[in-house]
Amino acid sequence: MARNILVAVAWPYASANIHVGNLGGAYLPADIYARYHRLAGDRVLMVSGSDSHGTPITVAADREGVHPRDLFERYHRHFLDLFVAMGLSYDLFTHTDTENHHRVAQDIFLRLHENGFLLRKREKQLYSTTEGRFLPDRYVEGTCPFCGYEHARGDQCEHCGRLMDPLELINPRSRIDGSTPIVRETEHFYLNLPAFSEALKAWLQAGKAHWRPQVLNFARNMVEQGLQPRPITRDLDWGIPVPLPGWEGKCLYVWFEAVIGYLSASIEWAQHRGTPEVWKDWWYDPEARTTYFIGKDNIVFHAVIWPAQLMGTVRLYEDDPDRRLNLPWHVPANEFVTLEGRKISGSRNWAIWVDDYLTRYDPDPLRYYLTANAPETRDTDFSWADFLRRNNDELVATWGNLVHRTLNFAYRNFEGRIPIPGLMDQRDVELLATIDVAFKPIGRLIEVAQFKAALSEVMALARQVNAYLDEKSPWFQIKEDRQAAGTTIYVALRAIDSLKVLFSPFLPFSSQRLHEMLGYEGTIIGEQRIELYRERERTHLALTYDGSRLAASWKASELPAGQPLAKPKPLFKKLDESIVEEELARLRAGSAG
Ligand code: MF3
Ligand code: ZN
Repeated sequence: MARNILVAVAWPYASANIHVGNLGGAYLPADIYARYHRLAGDRVLMVSGSDSHGTPITVAADREGVHPRDLFERYHRHFLDLFVAMGLSYDLFTHTDTENHHRVAQDIFLRLHENGFLLRKREKQLYSTTEGRFLPDRYVEGTCPFCGYEHARGDQCEHCGRLMDPLELINPRSRIDGSTPIVRETEHFYLNLPAFSEALKAWLQAGKAHWRPQVLNFARNMVEQGLQPRPITRDLDWGIPVPLPGWEGKCLYVWFEAVIGYLSASIEWAQHRGTPEVWKDWWYDPEARTTYFIGKDNIVFHAVIWPAQLMGTVRLYEDDPDRRLNLPWHVPANEFVTLEGRKISGSRNWAIWVDDYLTRYDPDPLRYYLTANAPETRDTDFSWADFLRRNNDELVATWGNLVHRTLNFAYRNFEGRIPIPGLMDQRDVELLATIDVAFKPIGRLIEVAQFKAALSEVMALARQVNAYLDEKSPWFQIKEDRQAAGTTIYVALRAIDSLKVLFSPFLPFSSQRLHEMLGYEGTIIGEQRIELYRERERTHLALTYDGSRLAASWKASELPAGQPLAKPKPLFKKLDESIVEEELARLRAGSAG
């Protein structure tokens, strides 16, 4: 039975480029998960978009002297191209400045208000006298009251991860002009988080065996320590207006509305397809699995606050009387990736930018390395030496070489066709059975977001097929018994055909090429497109994915004997040792200390 799988992926701020830490932390694992589920026959909806509001956008726009809209549209366009190039198969990658998103975010705000979950408070905030306006959290920095870190942001300390109110900062300063802000009164809405404490506790207890311990502990601790009401509006002009009379000049806080994007993008996708109600299959079906792919700095928002927002949004629309929006089924937040032993930093340019990487290398080796080295349980380090080793010793020497020597041998010795096997011996049957039974457990690992383990199981199978070939040595067999060699090559090709499917969520591009070399037609990975989306007043560009006619499924190969092969070409490139020094030099030269 096909399950409904919502793949909810963190929304990148459209104000900075995307580096390998962002990719390996959230977007790539989400894509692997989506691709697997599609092959398994499930109904997948993978959504995200550009986060177009918030101080990261306005700070960057101010710095460049452009309007926030121009800035975010430029980055958004760039993300679309980058995601196509990396093979990230979003069913919809939209942005938060659409009419639809504004409406859905305002609807949820109003519903929470009606349901009694919002509080109003007059409060003191930091006000810049030099600029004549309230300073958003991120415009303020100072010393963290918890750990003493001197460059803590007004909303969260990067060093200890604690959330805070900017008024708690010691020695606050404006990040715009360094001036010291004063404290002034303003009125805001708060989400009454304490009202959800018991419900959140109960939810965090039940059915969480598949959660990562660090994610679950973080969320449970936060709830145990006692929740405080959270402000959800801001004195801002770039954002989604608070939809109430008398509240002009105030906007919804970016974190309150950005997470609503998962829902609004699902609605937008359904409308665009001409089936406006189908989003409900992912949001109301209690069996649907909604999985959120994020970095560890986003855990509070996805494992505590967003679930509370969802719990409070009972009766979102009139015709959905008592239905409850699904709470997250899994939040497989990743730890961080460091680079050559140091924290990745965009501002110091200590980063590998994915667009730059793609000018010199192919997407699959990066997908491979970031997955094999994924920070699922602790921080991991990206190093070029390690990238080279994994590319050359694993991708090229194990998987690529297995494919190349088998296909070449078949192509040369069996008239460019898949040989017709004779009687299989026990070794042949065993090898195929081993691969056959591996699909289920590897699929289960992916379902619970253990991608690293899943990939290493697939690589272990490739090693077994290599060992099988060495043992059988068809290059000797063929001298005495052509039929025996044909059987061996058939078995090896069939194993490779299965591995193609097992590898395809991780390595979509090379798997598709292999699919074609094996003589098949069609796509096993679907098609991505950048499309113009129309709304009443405006149009916008979005990334969409079509996986409606996949020429493969998550099961062992039934390779058709006699099928003509295409001329084999190497799947991966061996990299020269010299790239390590070159890349390190490039990194050092580009970095600002
Ligand atoms: N743009 C934010 C970030 O990059 C939020 C991402 S997830 C969202 O950290 F759902 F909240 F948007
Ligand atoms: Zn701190």
